[in-house]
Amino acid sequence: MKIYKGHLLFTKVQQQFKVIENGYIAVENGKIKGVYTALPQEFENIPVEDFGNRLLIPAMNDMHVHAPQYRNQGIAMDLELLPWLNNYTFPEEIKYADTNYAERMYRRFVRDLWRYGTMRTVAFATIHQPATRLLMQIFQEAGMGAFVGKVDMNRNSPEALCEKVEEAVRKNEELIKEFNTPHSIVKPIITPRFVPSCTPQMLKACGELAEKYQLPVQSHLSENLSEIAWVKELEPESKHYGDAYNRYGLFGQTPTIMAHCVWTDGEELELMKKNKVMVAHCPTSNLNLSSGMAPVRLFLENNIPVGLGSDISGGHNLSIFKIIVYAIQISKMQYQKNKQRAFLTLPEAFYIATKSAGSFFGKVGSFEEDYDFDALLIDDAELNHDNYSLLHRLERFIYLGDDRNIIKRFCQGKEISEPKI
Ligand code: GUN
Ligand code: FE
Repeated sequence: MKIYKGHLLFTKVQQQFKVIENGYIAVENGKIKGVYTALPQEFENIPVEDFGNRLLIPAMNDMHVHAPQYRNQGIAMDLELLPWLNNYTFPEEIKYADTNYAERMYRRFVRDLWRYGTMRTVAFATIHQPATRLLMQIFQEAGMGAFVGKVDMNRNSPEALCEKVEEAVRKNEELIKEFNTPHSIVKPIITPRFVPSCTPQMLKACGELAEKYQLPVQSHLSENLSEIAWVKELEPESKHYGDAYNRYGLFGQTPTIMAHCVWTDGEELELMKKNKVMVAHCPTSNLNLSSGMAPVRLFLENNIPVGLGSDISGGHNLSIFKIIVYAIQISKMQYQKNKQRAFLTLPEAFYIATKSAGSFFGKVGSFEEDYDFDALLIDDAELNHDNYSLLHRLERFIYLGDDRNIIKRFCQGKEISEPKI
């Protein structure tokens, strides 16, 4: 058992922060045993690690990111989705046939997630099995939690990124056998890239894998208007874009994350609600690729779970703290168009990034009994130069701070040291 003392800030509910000044948190076997305003008598003989005047907050979760787009971070930001994929993204992903290249990039990618306090990640790799295995091993070595998807695709893409369905299934199954073990912190996730790059046969095979191994699913949905029009042409029998996944068991039959959902409404929205499909909201990507503004308030009103994603390299910024700020700012632009839909507040966006997103990994993202102890220790001394309240200190760290303010990181109770690159 370990006991930590510090200022605890977290969001048990969506509407407000819970703030415990000089609080205590007891951790046993990686899990939180309790959170206290004063140290209970039963723990009197256990040494306390005192974090002083620092802030202890839940760690961040990135619900949608492309690890093999790391090199493209911050370039090619002046195209929309489809030309961006063809001209920059696919050519970069082809390079991951080379595991040496993949290792060089993936190590830096995981180190950067660590730097920005992201302890759980839902990642796309590429179609390449050896490079995908390597990414999973790098997460494992780091001790950071992840769902990693070997990407499946077989149409409308360069030949070097297309696989035969049987080959994709076999390579997925090999990874599933290696990594789908009960206590692994790194697990596989079934990852058809998106409808335009998967034939119905590929989608069907992906749905069967998800069902057979009871694995989660991730993909992209209703991101860009040209993409949506193309899906209508490719899959005329589907009632909407989401239906093209749903008919193959890829839309909430097992836990599912759909990135973007910028243009989701009507029956697609209803089905997401019914099937509890999680939205990975990626505001920076939606800004850069000029995709639009996702109706996050509408998702929340419908109890559709939402998490945040950096979507590197559609998105340029790996810090989920900065994504929180972008999510709030975009919601304020939407509010000016429609005052019926309130903008996101800081506790709401923080809740989305922590407890809501964390639910995809189990009990993750809050400081409550039985939750995994995933936490960040924030030293904001430089920002706290004039006796700010604890809430204002957290707000200033989120808006003004950066990785230099994060001085300790914990995942499942273990302190995570900087991964070697
Ligand atoms: N849709 C299909 N592939 C991708 C991708 O790599 N990034 C984004 N943002 N959307 C996609
Ligand atoms: Fe994406």
